[in-house]
Amino acid sequence: MTEAPLRLAVIIGSTREGRVGDRIARWFAGQASGRTDLSVVLVDLAEFAFPPGYPARATPQMSAFAAEVGRADAFAVVTPEYNHSFPASLKQAIDFAYDEWHAKPVGYVSYGCRSAGQHAVDQLRTVFTALHAVSVRDGVGVDLLDGCADLDSRLAGDLPARAAQVLLDQLCWWGRALKAARAAHPFVS
Ligand SMILES: Cc1cc2nc3c(=O)[nH]c(=O)nc-3n(C[C@H](O)[C@H](O)[C@H](O)COP(=O)(O)O)c2cc1C
Repeated sequence: MTEAPLRLAVIIGSTREGRVGDRIARWFAGQASGRTDLSVVLVDLAEFAFPPGYPARATPQMSAFAAEVGRADAFAVVTPEYNHSFPASLKQAIDFAYDEWHAKPVGYVSYGCRSAGQHAVDQLRTVFTALHAVSVRDGVGVDLLDGCADLDSRLAGDLPARAAQVLLDQLCWWGRALKAARAAHPFVS
């Protein structure tokens, strides 16, 4: 029996004007869309009108984001590094869902001017552990130290493509395993 493709949400974490994140996310989504085991949806935080503060009741936009998380079987979080962490826009959105993250795999596509966004990933691993999500080991790191002028041609190389497929393989393995586990047993949180 052929398994239905897993739904992979590629989350664009930066909402900064003039951001690079959407280019990197679209490249990664392109890598994923060539696979038959995944159906890919881009979730762009810049398209949600989130409230400036955390309201007592979820707004329709907050609920729409949580529903998007709930529909997904796996996540690729595309994050820049800001002051050795990840951007506030991403933390704000992550905190709008809770059960919807549980027992699902998360992979990281990070970038920055030093260490390819590794500090941001380290902190996201802690955050997603609190949400009972499973961070996969390998990720994609894009170094922006020399700027973004040749970003598209660098992303078109073999090494980034191979790193993307390794990450996608791990997301698929965990995605299938955890989907079956969620169907067999309600999560224990
Ligand atoms: C507020 C701010 C802080 C930053 N801090 C870091 C940092 O600590 N380490 C790093 O490697 N790059 C840092 N950068 C560079 C960003 O990673 C780089 O500009 C990246 O393109 C930002 O992602 P975005 O364009 O998608 O918003 C910082 C950029 C900004 C705007």
